[in-house]
Amino acid sequence: AVERTLVLAKPDAVRKNVVGKIIARFEDEGFKLVALKKLKLTKEQAGQFYIVHKERPFYDELCEFMSSGPIVAMVWEGENAIARVRAIMGATDPAKAEEGTLRKLYGSNVGENAVHGSDSVESANYEIPFFFSGLELIG
Ligand code: CMP
Repeated sequence: AVERTLVLAKPDAVRKNVVGKIIARFEDEGFKLVALKKLKLTKEQAGQFYIVHKERPFYDELCEFMSSGPIVAMVWEGENAIARVRAIMGATDPAKAEEGTLRKLYGSNVGENAVHGSDSVESANYEIPFFFSGLELIG
């Protein structure tokens, strides 16, 4: 099915100036850009975005990091987009990610791993409206 997925270029990717390379990769893979914006989350907003991880030991660190600088939020559309974007990003831990994946190329460690992508249709249905209104989604 044609799906939409929420991708974040995380603060580390913005600081490394690799946002364009991340966007280019999704364009090269044939996805359609539906929405894009740069913003800076508060720690509380990061906590709401990652609310499913609230009980994890790394939650506080994750929210600190995700609010440590600007991010770039985007929505990409394509056939089977959720799983395909996750494959392009690679494993959560860049050290375990396959060669050529975005996290291997641009990530530093399991926390500072350059990109986020929705992990399911259910997640995408929470994450896309978290950042974008209907008017901002141009298919
Ligand atoms: P992401 O895809 O954004 O979804 C949740 C994030 O939590 C994940 O990527 C990692 O960056 C982060 N995360 C997962 N495990 C750890 C960990 N052990 N320590 C710090 N951050 C983690």
